Amino acid sequence: MDKREVLRSIPMFRGLPDPDLDEIADLLIERRFRARATIFEEGSVGEYMYVIRDGEVKVSKMSDDGREKVLELLGPGLFFGEMALLDQEPRSASIKAITDCVLLALSRNDFIGLLRRNPEISLVLLRELTRRLRETDEEVRGLLFERVEGRTRRVLRRMATRPVPGRPDMVTTGSITHQQLADLVGTSRETITRVVKGLKHRGWLDQEGKHYLISKEDSARR
Ligand code: CMP
Repeated sequence: MDKREVLRSIPMFRGLPDPDLDEIADLLIERRFRARATIFEEGSVGEYMYVIRDGEVKVSKMSDDGREKVLELLGPGLFFGEMALLDQEPRSASIKAITDCVLLALSRNDFIGLLRRNPEISLVLLRELTRRLRETDEEVRGLLFERVEGRTRRVLRRMATRPVPGRPDMVTTGSITHQQLADLVGTSRETITRVVKGLKHRGWLDQEGKHYLISKEDSARR
């Protein structure tokens, strides 16, 4: 794929005319990370934002006693590291590669310049930040008012966005371990194992390997 095509597959750049895509392609620096590598740590100074070309990363924060809370898993086409560039505060969370990753890095000056020149890119960014704030509001509500099972269902609804070949009424998550699910829900792996078993028993959830399947109808309730 040439650089233009790569950029067109990324929602933030999709609507831009060819000359703009060519200009952006020249600004982006390709960086590769191995699975489990730390891309940056919470609290560090931010110089670049990143668009995920390939692979998956984990956004997480640490508690004072060293426990990790996973805020989000982000995959191809999504971006991270924009917050520290926008407000010049330290990185709000750590980013680690879950799989081998190919990232496209954009420096602070190039990022700000791009936003100034392209209202469309600014709108895509604002929409994504709004989506994240809504998710965070839901998460706060869940942590305050919901039991673990309700939170697990909410996380699975959010993550199950992919079609299932041969099962048009179902959608599935990507590959996710019980530990990753537990981290996203904010509970232990043992509890997740028990909750998943219960949800499967009652027919709400189906599993194929590490992929979790729920009905399309249910996923629309989020
Ligand atoms: P920054 O603060 O520069 O570095 C950490 C990044 O994690 C942050 O920018 C966002 O891109 C991303 N991030 C922080 N909080 C969330 C969240 N709740 N959901 C998704 N991504 C987040």
